[in-house]
Amino acid sequence: MYTIYKYILFHFLPLALDSFSSLNRNKMIIILLSATLLATLAAGQSQDSCYADQTDPYILFGTATPYEAVSNTNASYVYIDKCEAKQFWIISRHGTRYADADEVDELKDLYDLQEKIIKNHEKDGSGSLCAKDLENLKLWTLQVVSNVKSDLTPQGYNDLYRLGERFKSRFPALFKQTVTKDSFKVQFTTKQRTAASAIAFVDGLFGTGMGLEFPEALEDDMLIKPYASCKKWEKDVEENKDTTKQMKKFEDGSTVTTLVGSVSKRLGFSKTLDLDDILLMYSACRYDKAWHLDKVSPWCAAFTEDDLKALEYIEDLELYYSTGYGNDLNKKVGCPPVKDFIDRFSDIEKGEQQPAGVLYFTHHEMILLVLTSLGFDKDKEALTSSNYDQMSGREWRSSFISPFTANLAAVFFKCDAGEPYRVQLYFNEHLLDINGCDQGLCDWSYFKQQFGSISSSCNLDFC
Ligand SMILES: *[C@@H]1O[C@H](CO)[C@@H](O)[C@H](O)[C@H]1NC(C)=O
Repeated sequence: MYTIYKYILFHFLPLALDSFSSLNRNKMIIILLSATLLATLAAGQSQDSCYADQTDPYILFGTATPYEAVSNTNASYVYIDKCEAKQFWIISRHGTRYADADEVDELKDLYDLQEKIIKNHEKDGSGSLCAKDLENLKLWTLQVVSNVKSDLTPQGYNDLYRLGERFKSRFPALFKQTVTKDSFKVQFTTKQRTAASAIAFVDGLFGTGMGLEFPEALEDDMLIKPYASCKKWEKDVEENKDTTKQMKKFEDGSTVTTLVGSVSKRLGFSKTLDLDDILLMYSACRYDKAWHLDKVSPWCAAFTEDDLKALEYIEDLELYYSTGYGNDLNKKVGCPPVKDFIDRFSDIEKGEQQPAGVLYFTHHEMILLVLTSLGFDKDKEALTSSNYDQMSGREWRSSFISPFTANLAAVFFKCDAGEPYRVQLYFNEHLLDINGCDQGLCDWSYFKQQFGSISSSCNLDFC
């Protein structure tokens, strides 16, 4: 009832106000009353509210969260009295990508589910999708073909382009200087989506077609993709059955079982669907949204907000053990990028030459491993299959810490008064309020004391 009412209020009222602004107050009130009446009537028909009508749908979709949902777009010039930015360092996940080839094959199974759901509603009179959501579902087609694999999408290009533009506007002096491969270092992995993200970011910084020379991607990149070349990590984390144990227990537990049942019922199935079907619909829901921010994915209509939160937790559990605090190896394998910026800042302090910008483009695993290495977003308790409710306010939440384009930036300043060097860290463009620093501005001496050991103890020999 509430949603329908809100819909009418938000969507018809402005229209009514526009077209009838010359009419008198009494007539306005009549229009308002009829809107209320309409809402009451519609609610009487006992259908679930329409997903398509939600003005602010839940789009925290774990690692497929659109960057726009969590970023900070305030791009004001960052002014720090008597200080000058000397280096801008960033490590970013690639932007929104297409589904990979395997996922595309799986997503094709949705055509079968689509047909059944329509039949459930139209022939069997079961299911509770509203007419609008059902209509959208009928029109749905898979917006991707196998040959684009997991390449960057147009939306992904835009995300990185805007990110570059905004950082330029925050630190204009750094990006005004002559662009050469000595003044700007760029590195990405062997995937199209990270190379294309680098191009997009640089286009945003310097204008399209700037022609900054890019180095070749490395097969074994021990700086921005060390986990993929670390045998010990592969064996002890990636291939270790314990890594997915909590996730699997959660999937088999009552929260997810109830979810599977209620989604099946909502879609009109008398026989409960498999979790795999549910996950496939979730996948289509979140990809559709990330690819086309201005559109509604009919697959999201299968879920309530609570359903979406539980699905989010499934992925958080997996990532907590595969890239987070759930395994001690993760903070060790995540150190190289942290060491990289700390060492570069130390070089500047010693008077050595450093590029004005250092720009890395990689994958969500690396971003999460870096956060783990720094000790950020650590909860007091471990995420497990049994504490979903208690962890609702958790720090380790992939929607916030590894959406598309997730990025950590570090800026090094030289100052003419007081502490001679200072540091700021930004995560998804939000200035990080680090303990012991002054509103996000850290004295370099303090920063080294807090985080320097991550650099000095960083050693991947164990790999
Ligand atoms: C935007 O960012 C600037 C610089 O970081 C800050 O001073 C200002 O308060 C911010 N504005 C808003 C509206 O948050």
